[in-house]
Amino acid sequence: MNLFIDPSKKFYITTPIYYVNDIPHIGNMYTTLACDMIARFMRLDGFSVKFLTGTDEHGQKVEKAAIALEKKPQDFVDLVSQNFRNLASFMQFTHTDFIRTTEPRHLKATQHLWKELLDRDEIYLGGYSGWYAVSDEAFYQESELINGKAPTGAEVEWVTEPSYFFRLSKWQDRLLEFYHANPNFIAPESRRNEVLRFVEGGLHDLSVSRTSFKWGIPVPGDPDHIMYVWLDALTNYITALGYPNQDSDDFKDFWSNSLHVVGKDILRFHAVYWPAFLMAAGLPTPTRIFAHGWWTRDGEKISKSVGNAIDPIKLVETYGLDPVRYFLLREVPFGNDGDFSDTALIGRLNSDLANSYGNLVQRVLSFIAKSCEGIVPKPDPMTSEDQTLLSQITDLLPAIRAHMEKQLLHKVAEQIWQVIGEANRYVDDQKPWALKTTNPTRMGTILYVLAETIRQIAILTQPLVPQASARILDQLAISPDQRTFADLGAALVPGTVLPAPEGVFPRWVEGK
Ligand code: MSP
Repeated sequence: MNLFIDPSKKFYITTPIYYVNDIPHIGNMYTTLACDMIARFMRLDGFSVKFLTGTDEHGQKVEKAAIALEKKPQDFVDLVSQNFRNLASFMQFTHTDFIRTTEPRHLKATQHLWKELLDRDEIYLGGYSGWYAVSDEAFYQESELINGKAPTGAEVEWVTEPSYFFRLSKWQDRLLEFYHANPNFIAPESRRNEVLRFVEGGLHDLSVSRTSFKWGIPVPGDPDHIMYVWLDALTNYITALGYPNQDSDDFKDFWSNSLHVVGKDILRFHAVYWPAFLMAAGLPTPTRIFAHGWWTRDGEKISKSVGNAIDPIKLVETYGLDPVRYFLLREVPFGNDGDFSDTALIGRLNSDLANSYGNLVQRVLSFIAKSCEGIVPKPDPMTSEDQTLLSQITDLLPAIRAHMEKQLLHKVAEQIWQVIGEANRYVDDQKPWALKTTNPTRMGTILYVLAETIRQIAILTQPLVPQASARILDQLAISPDQRTFADLGAALVPGTVLPAPEGVFPRWVEGK
């Protein structure tokens, strides 16, 4: 499909911007984690990457949360936005920009976009009467309600107020043409079909301003109105590229290779409203939108009222950053819903990290330390078994790149761990320990093949488990500037002196 294989080698990835009415939890950390894995992968693959995250600070929901705490909205958002920034740095995410919708650059961009839409007669003044769910910040048709509530279960209220409307209905056919011409625009396929069905069902003009509260971006020329929070929020993706200036190479190259990762609950805003706003303003659309599923905990929906939210900081303090990353990215096919439980996390930690990857590294490196004085041995002519293992590794990059193109993050892990399994089998079959006195040359070759295998695997696992991968590469004396995918082909140099090995994935022992 080669979606992002562009000669400019630029890549733009975004998370949704998070509502600041709540503290960060595992659900919203998950979206950023997935983007972080993708961003790290693309950088290692030679792309210049812009990785954007941030906070969505306007709207009725945030205003209500501030009032409940008797705070001014601006003071409240300053405080809570910082929690999201702190979490991102605690998680060592590699974002290159953190946007807040209360920043001047964003005010400028949204007001410019508004004027553009108004000048093109895509926005008109009317009056809105209908249902609104504050916790979703979304309007619903009467026909969409289920037992008097939004389809998401949120409470709705009847709203009557003057409002500007965006001519969304007019874009129905253009959107459908666009989806058909760009079959990769929405993923996964099942979600794409949902969007198609929704748009085929008919689109109504969208209310894009409110007058009944004040916490938002003023509509240019009509300050009684503030912009609908979703029009405001979606624009963040181009604010961060410098919009209204569209002439910079940065804007053109990054925007034409862009990926929005979102949760399934907000796909409609991204896959329907956002391209319609952009097309109506004469702007290009992003390249792709991927919607991931939702986490439940021990089978239950995660919610504040149930009190079962998972604090990412506590989780990382308990299990470590890499095990948490690995579990969340590997356990559930990316795009599906998943269930979080400590038991499942510990299972993955012990089987995939400690027993499989950790054990491979540990036994090979400690054997080299003990039997080769910590020096990378020289390979003698290789057998077909040696070559088979090495060629399985060479085949890994194209295979995982193809998964990455489709954001099949779990498959990237699966594929690498399959080769880790092969390498462990190779150790068992070749039994290097039995050759120490009988055939040290052959033993050296086996250990060389294994150390080289580990080097390449550790380069490839960096996007998934960055800390452990770095420690493994340190133990192989690979310099930090030789750890990209372009370095996969530069084999280990025999004779290199290795530092003393130490375990990278301790087993989780209950009650330790
Ligand atoms: N502010 C809007 C997004 C605007 S983007 C222009 C918003 N914010 S949010 O904080 O409510 O949600 C942010 C993300 O967190 C969404 O992608 C949502 O799907 C994700 N998650 C929230 N809870 C989740 C789970 N329990 N599991 C997985 N992801 C979940 O929507």
